Amino acid sequence: MRRVTVAGDAPYEVVIGPGAGAELGLVLAGTSKAAVVHAPPLAAAAGAAVESLQTAGVAAEAVVVPDGEAAKTAQVAARLWDEFGRLGLTRSDAVVGVGGGAVTDLAGFAAATWTRGIRVVQVPTSVLGMVDAAVGGKTGINTAAGKNLVGAFHPPAAVLADTDALSGLSDAEFRSGLAEVVKCGFIADGEILRLLTEDPTGRRDTEELIERAVRVKADAVAGDLYDRGRREFLNYGHTLGHAIERVEDFGWRHGEAVAVGLVFAAELAGRAGLLSPADVGRHRSLVAAMGLPTRYAGDWSRLQAVMRVDKKARGASLRFVVLDGRRPGEAATPMILTDPDQAWLDAAWAAVSDEGTSS
Ligand SMILES: NC(=O)c1ccc[n+]([C@@H]2O[C@H](COP(=O)([O-])OP(=O)(O)OC[C@H]3O[C@@H](n4cnc5c(N)ncnc54)[C@H](O)[C@@H]3O)[C@@H](O)[C@H]2O)c1
Ligand SMILES: [Zn+2]
Repeated sequence: MRRVTVAGDAPYEVVIGPGAGAELGLVLAGTSKAAVVHAPPLAAAAGAAVESLQTAGVAAEAVVVPDGEAAKTAQVAARLWDEFGRLGLTRSDAVVGVGGGAVTDLAGFAAATWTRGIRVVQVPTSVLGMVDAAVGGKTGINTAAGKNLVGAFHPPAAVLADTDALSGLSDAEFRSGLAEVVKCGFIADGEILRLLTEDPTGRRDTEELIERAVRVKADAVAGDLYDRGRREFLNYGHTLGHAIERVEDFGWRHGEAVAVGLVFAAELAGRAGLLSPADVGRHRSLVAAMGLPTRYAGDWSRLQAVMRVDKKARGASLRFVVLDGRRPGEAATPMILTDPDQAWLDAAWAAVSDEGTSS
C-alpha cells in the first residue's frame, strides 16, 4: 500500500492501493458510531465499508444521497443532519464519505458542521476524488448563486483511496480525473509527465500516478490550508476551465474543461515569453494523447467576462497560473500572471478555439 502524509495542524494519511478501503475499521477502531454516506452507484462499496466498521465494533449505518452534483445541496445536507441526529452521532463519532468528489464534498461539509465538527474519513472512488476532492480539507455544497459557495475547511482524519473501486468507473470519468494528474505533472512532477507519455491511458501506472498527484497536492496544501498562497498553483488550467464549465452550464466534465485550460495556459505562457514552443507543444500533444480535449469553440467575450468573476479571481483582475520555463536545463515552475496583455490572451484563445491555426 502507498501512503502519503498530509502535513498540517492535524496531519493525516492518504492510503492508496487495491484494498485500501479495508483499513477503515482500523482507522476508526474505538469509535462507537459512524454514518457511511454514499450515492446509489456506490452501494456495494458503502456496504463493504459498513461491514469493515461493524467487524471493528463500530455501529455503522449507510445513508443514501443523490448521485453526482445533486448531492451537493442545502436540502441534502439538512437531510444528513437529520440522519446524524437519528443515529445519535456525537463529537466522538464519525462520518465516512464513499464516492466521487460530490459525495466526499457533501459528507465532509455535513461532518464539519455537525456538532461544529466531527471526524470524516474519505473513501474516494473516482480518480478526481482520490487526487483532488478528498485531499486537502475543502468541503462544500452548491447554492443558487454558484458552485462550492458554502463550505468549510475540514481536513479528513484519513483518506482511503481504494484503487479496486476504479474498475467500476467509466472511461470518460477516469480520463477526466487524469486531467488533474497531468496538471500536477506540469506544475511539479516531471515523472508524472514521463509516465503519461509512455502510457497516456494512465491504466498501467494508475497507483503511482495517483500517489504522485496526491503528493503534489499534499505539498501545496501543507501550510496553506486556507488557500492564500502556494495552493493557488493547483489552479493551473482552471481559470479558463472554470469559465468553460460555467458557460456550458456544467455540461462538460471538469477534467475536460481543465484540459483545454491547460493548453490555453501553456499558449498564454508561450505568448508571454515564459515557455518555449516545444513546451507549449508538449502540453497539447500529451493532453491530446490522453484522449482529452485541446480545443473549445465558444464565445470568447463571454468566457472572458466569466473569468473575471471567477470566485478565485481577486477583485476584477484576471489571474492565471502559468509555467515559467526560462531557466535552461531546469523544470518550469508555476507563477501567477496577473492581467496579461490582451494580445496574448487573444492569441492563446485563437490557438485553442476552433478557428485556431496553431497545431
Ligand atoms: N473539495 C475539493 O477540494 C474539490 C476539488 C476538486 C473537485 N471537487 C468537487 O468534486 C466533484 C466532482 O467529483 P467527481 O469528478 O468524482 O464527480 P462525481 O462525484 O459527480 O462522480 C461522477 C460520477 O461517477 C460515479 N462514480 C464515482 N466513482 C465511481 C466508481 N468507483 N464506480 C462507478 N461509478 C462511480 C458517481 O456516482 C457519479 O455518477 C465536484 O462537485 C467538485 O466541486 C472538490
Ligand atoms: Zn480541478
